[in-house]
Amino acid sequence: MLTLSSLLSLFLLFTPQVTGGAGIGVNYGKVATDLPSPFQVAQFLSQNTIFDRVMILDSDPPTIEAFANTGLAIDVAISNDLIPILTNISFAKHWVRTNIIPYASSTNISRILVGNEAISTANKTLVLGLVPAMQNLHTALVSVSLHHKIKVSTAHSLGILAASIPPSAGKFKDGYDIAVIKPLLSFLKATDSPFMVNAYPFFGFTIDTLDYALFRLNNGVFDNQTGLVYTNMLDAQIDAVHSAMKRLGFTDIDLVIAQTGWPSVGGESEVGVSMEIARDYNKNLIRHVISGIGTPLMSNRTFETYIFELFNEDLKPGPSSERNFGLFHADLTPVYDIGILKPEVSQPVKSANPADPIPANVKQWCIPKPNTDKMMLQENIDFACSEVNCHPIQPGGNCFNPDTLHAHAAYAMNEYFQFYGKNSFDCYFGGTGIVSTGDPSYGSCKFRS
Ligand SMILES: *[C@@H]1O[C@H](CO)[C@@H](O)[C@H](O)[C@H]1NC(C)=O
Ligand SMILES: *[C@@H]1O[C@H](CO)[C@@H](O)[C@H](O)[C@H]1NC(C)=O
Ligand SMILES: *[C@@H]1O[C@H](CO)[C@@H](O)[C@H](O)[C@H]1NC(C)=O
Ligand SMILES: *[C@@H]1O[C@H](CO)[C@@H](O)[C@H](O)[C@H]1NC(C)=O
Ligand SMILES: *[C@@H]1O[C@H](CO)[C@@H](O)[C@H](O)[C@H]1NC(C)=O
Repeated sequence: MLTLSSLLSLFLLFTPQVTGGAGIGVNYGKVATDLPSPFQVAQFLSQNTIFDRVMILDSDPPTIEAFANTGLAIDVAISNDLIPILTNISFAKHWVRTNIIPYASSTNISRILVGNEAISTANKTLVLGLVPAMQNLHTALVSVSLHHKIKVSTAHSLGILAASIPPSAGKFKDGYDIAVIKPLLSFLKATDSPFMVNAYPFFGFTIDTLDYALFRLNNGVFDNQTGLVYTNMLDAQIDAVHSAMKRLGFTDIDLVIAQTGWPSVGGESEVGVSMEIARDYNKNLIRHVISGIGTPLMSNRTFETYIFELFNEDLKPGPSSERNFGLFHADLTPVYDIGILKPEVSQPVKSANPADPIPANVKQWCIPKPNTDKMMLQENIDFACSEVNCHPIQPGGNCFNPDTLHAHAAYAMNEYFQFYGKNSFDCYFGGTGIVSTGDPSYGSCKFRS
């Protein structure tokens, strides 16, 4: 029979090649002095590292724009402060219109995170506003047909758990479980969005469990309810979350590790902090999450994981370790090597390429792409007609015939496009609109230009 430690050494010997598309990302925070520009960061991450996704810890439009045409999947985060006003649907629509729509055709925005660890703040306004704010953002995305591409979620600290040891005993805190977490899980399930957790073995280890926290050889921890053995703390943490979700009846929602990491420098009183330890944690973490082994309760799975974080953030308050989670120095040299740099390539840096400007003297109309599906056409009509006059496509109107979704959508989308000033993003419609130079008018049905 294989012993636990021989199993572990097998695992450690088998070190899969880290390649692109692994579902490994990095958190990009900017509470620091002298950082490179977002454009330099975006080019560096896409060309020189194996990261295929980035979580921007703010929703700064120039930063979102800097990731245009990089191929990286981008998550943007909204600060907790905005949660109360996002419970106002008009503001949520305004926010999406300002921070997302102009960039969504070039930057691969895949998720919006509403606040960070909002439930753990125990601030009633934030806790109770969270799900309504998420719903409103989702509604705003639906109205521009971006909801299939851009998901709405939020990241939690493990502090939302009342119990986590053993992992099978995982449960959410009483009170919040039914009042907030259950509606949240229903929302995530209905919108096919993941449950996201910030899981930090760094905040859970003791000197005795350091090896367990670092994915190094250790005796393992036995779950006496399931008979399963845990060989690392991260598995135990996310299985505890899985158990808590299962207790509320949700077993089929994806789990994403929104943040995890280890600092490389700490204060004198901080134990278990060094360059080698940080390197071991992050290196072993990547191997583990992409290995496909999964966790004891969720076997044979990979977990999309974001390493906290890209740069040290020297302007953050708190203990020194808070300022030293970074993988890279401000000059983009690695703090330590965890095998995430691509082999050196000599490639010219791509030029920034915002959407090509449309010449002012050429007439333009916005119409749906030929094979746009009916549901999208209907959504485009509903959205455009909530903002512009659509009388001509109603019964008796000049553009009612032909009475097809495609013809009606063309009229409505063009009205919207013209009304908002013919920016190329006003004809985006979730990728279903196309700007045409041919006049779609016919008979008495006139399309504005
Ligand atoms: C955008 O990101 C997703 C992952 O969320 C990926 O599957 C897709 O290929 C990316 N698209 C582009 C155009 O890079
Ligand atoms: C709760 O959060 C809101 C929004 O950030 C803030 O305005 C308010 O002061 C907070 N309440 C308490 C009691 O901290
Ligand atoms: C909701 O948001 C809109 C747009 O930002 C604003 O004009 C309106 O006053 C807000 N309503 C309330 C009740 O705050
Ligand atoms: C399982 O272990 C916990 C401590 O981790 C203990 O409190 C509990 O009694 C044990 N249960 C069984 C059935 O052995
Ligand atoms: C996981 O994969 C192993 C090896 O391919 C297989 O034997 C096992 O049944 C799988 N477990 C589950 C739960 O799918």
